[in-house]
Amino acid sequence: MALLAIEGLSVGFAREGRFARVIPDLTYSVEAGETLGIVGESGSGKSVHALALLGLLPQPPGRILGGRAVFDGHDLLAMPEARLRDLRGGRIGMIFQDPMTALNPVLTIGRQIAEPLIRHKAMSMRQALDRATDLLALVGIRDGARRLSQYPHEFSGGMRQRVMIAIAISCEPALLIADEPTTALDVTVQGQILDLMAELRDRLRMTMVWITHDMGVVAGIADTIQVMYAGRIMERGPVNAVFASPRSAYTYGLLQSLPHGARPPGGRLMQIPGAPPDMFAPTPGDPFAPRNPFATPRCHREAPPLRAVEDSVAGHMVAAWYDLPRLLA
Ligand SMILES: Nc1ncnc2c1ncn2[C@@H]1O[C@H](COP(=O)(O)OP(=O)(O)O)[C@@H](O)[C@H]1O
Ligand SMILES: [Mg+2]
Repeated sequence: MALLAIEGLSVGFAREGRFARVIPDLTYSVEAGETLGIVGESGSGKSVHALALLGLLPQPPGRILGGRAVFDGHDLLAMPEARLRDLRGGRIGMIFQDPMTALNPVLTIGRQIAEPLIRHKAMSMRQALDRATDLLALVGIRDGARRLSQYPHEFSGGMRQRVMIAIAISCEPALLIADEPTTALDVTVQGQILDLMAELRDRLRMTMVWITHDMGVVAGIADTIQVMYAGRIMERGPVNAVFASPRSAYTYGLLQSLPHGARPPGGRLMQIPGAPPDMFAPTPGDPFAPRNPFATPRCHREAPPLRAVEDSVAGHMVAAWYDLPRLLA
């Protein structure tokens, strides 16, 4: 059963008197227990869609134009703000890279981990601080009892991200949404955090939506990959199937840009030329067509619908008019 089902989500932005539909019409779902990796270059609408479904989109300049985001049977977009606030940090955990939602520099780490426990689990400060010590141990921070009285600046970047994870999982959320949580960290620390998240996910049986611009990260943590571009799904499917035989030229380009050894064997080297589209000046057709060396005349005229890939596994879907394996053969 789907724990989260997004149906026809549409989000716009107003800027300097102009308006752009940055998420035109987004539909996807996440099954209970699944880890969905959402990938795409900067500006593809990954963060905006996550903020919109959590009720955190700044409105204005943003505006939710339509759609539903059904979590556990209830539409988040139609929910009163007070109920949504109860879900966030409770049954839905979040980890953002965004400094706005990051740690508060003037509060101790202990206070910040205790806060959601007091609020969502009705714990006393004493109970919450005890639990906070356990949580620090769980995310690999030793000497937790002493660390609780320290401030964020006394922690390294990797340790701060571990604290953010401790806060996000403190109430044992059913769903965890992580938006580029390891992007600012060096590669070694990033690997440690990914391993930690996979372990916590399995232990707490969390469903995860993991947002990143890095294909390599998705390969390590996700069951299903969803490639986004210009606010749309270009391709989606089981990670193994998509990595072994991508059907969107955009996915192919992202895979080819992985460091040698991480990318799938064979294939021509393709770097994605050009820049992501200006959503305030949309072109007709497939949004990736202007950068796609394989684009056909139809790609420039008409936007392709997301459809099942016939000669692949169930759940593999693509939005493309061309047949990529044939073009690459
Ligand atoms: N505050 C804003 N004002 C205007 N446009 C915005 C704002 N925030 C995001 N956008 C637009 O929304 C689109 C998607 O952005 P975003 O979701 O942040 O991308 P991603 O997270 O995939 O890098 C971009 O085209 C961006 O220009
Ligand atoms: Mg983002």
